[in-house]
Amino acid sequence: MSERHFLYPGTFDPFTRGHLDILERGLALCDRVTVAVAAGGKTTLLDRDERVELARGALAGLAGADRCRVVGFEGLLVDLARDLGASAVLRGVRSQADLEHEQAMAALNRVLSPGFEVVVLFPRPELAMISSTLVRDVARCGGELAALVTPGVAEALRRRSARS
Ligand code: PNS
Repeated sequence: MSERHFLYPGTFDPFTRGHLDILERGLALCDRVTVAVAAGGKTTLLDRDERVELARGALAGLAGADRCRVVGFEGLLVDLARDLGASAVLRGVRSQADLEHEQAMAALNRVLSPGFEVVVLFPRPELAMISSTLVRDVARCGGELAALVTPGVAEALRRRSARS
């Protein structure tokens, strides 16, 4: 059987414990995962290289980290999936709003690339409230980040808040 390779794309601004949960559970379903950090399209707090480094640090302690890698990407997701020979894209869905967004993206990506497949996973309930947007907000207000992100990400956000 051919290798099952999932592509886990996102903005990851920053990579959260919710992302880690989806990654960990995705890894259990495939041979390897490439985490793909999107460059543009949105204004981000952290630049792409920093988001890539933080994602690498966050997943380093994961069982199965040796089956993961993190890359940055620009351009279309379907092109990256084709170039990497990924068998499916992995996405986490926390809410009805997420689901609608994912359905629209999947439908569009399928028009662009007919073989495109998405594996959707639901986060553990205790992590379902975590979003990068809320994490950035908590960081900006000086709140406790330990339950939301890994220590390296928390440290980077604290440094970032201290600068602005
Ligand atoms: O973390 P996000 O913001 O939910 O991730 C969205 C992402 C990066 C997966 C999506 O915007 C994307 O695939 N961007 C690459 C450009 C692209 O292919 N756009 C068309 C599909 S919507």
